[in-house]
Amino acid sequence: MDKNKFGGSWTELKIEVLETYAKQFLTVFKNQPAQKLLYFDGFAGSGDIEVENIKEENSHIIEGAAIKILKIDKPRSFDMYYFVEKKKSLANSLEKKIKEHFPKKDAYVQAKDCNEKLIALAKFLRSDKGKSFKVLGFIDPKGMQLEWSSLEVLRGLPIDLWVLNPTSGTNRVLVRKGEIDESWLKRLELFLGMNRVDIKNHFYSRRPTLFGDLDIIKENDPINKLHELYASRIAGNIFKYVSNPKILRNNSGAPLFHFFMATNSEIALRIANSVVNPKLGF
Ligand SMILES: C[S@@+](CC[C@H](N)C(=O)[O-])C[C@H]1O[C@@H](n2cnc3c(N)ncnc32)[C@H](O)[C@@H]1O
Repeated sequence: MDKNKFGGSWTELKIEVLETYAKQFLTVFKNQPAQKLLYFDGFAGSGDIEVENIKEENSHIIEGAAIKILKIDKPRSFDMYYFVEKKKSLANSLEKKIKEHFPKKDAYVQAKDCNEKLIALAKFLRSDKGKSFKVLGFIDPKGMQLEWSSLEVLRGLPIDLWVLNPTSGTNRVLVRKGEIDESWLKRLELFLGMNRVDIKNHFYSRRPTLFGDLDIIKENDPINKLHELYASRIAGNIFKYVSNPKILRNNSGAPLFHFFMATNSEIALRIANSVVNPKLGF
């Protein structure tokens, strides 16, 4: 059966953060059975993940986020689940697991592009039927597949959206002297919602050389800079707030992703921050 293959312990940490938040989200609404709750997963995978452990040269299978979320029944469950997974074989695999293990849940699997389905989600939430829903969303791409315009359509909607920002992968595209490939420049523009001139000005500076011409130098700390830019352009613009990020690292401690939540609710923000950094308390 088809399954996703990637990982390390950061995968487990990411799912743990999402699951912990989901339980708290459901707790907030436990005494409001009339409040309809929707779970939207834009990069759902197959339902299980083969986690590769390079150091120990072994791998093991863990449950993907979709199954973890479907399993939550207490303090209540979601009223509807919407899973998007572009790869047909993975989507079929997830659908099969849902039919077998969660036959009573109102769950849908779509083998489509997440960007397309975020637009459909926004339209639904603005419709008469959709107005009664609050949403927990999860955007879990490997790279820069989430387009800025798909985030923009969510402006003002009642969604708590966990987003995996692929900061390390994006940094690799920002090559040292700024000579970024045309195809990557296009991808960066779609991902960041900025034009190439502004992107280059943000991550590179020009310094005069001894011989009077200009050298292009990449700015320091680009990985954190990438997240600061992304989060600051969402907060107060598309969503009111963004949480602190959980930095997901590889086995050697190098940052791979910044995982954070965007929301319009102050209470949701406080809960997300307490999940990202339990020491801050709530
Ligand atoms: C990191 S994996 C998701 C893992 C999943 N969240 C889990 O916990 O098992 C990313 C998935 O997104 C899918 N994908 C890639 N581009 C996509 C797109 N534009 N829209 C929807 N799914 C996409 C890939 O096939 C892959 O299965």
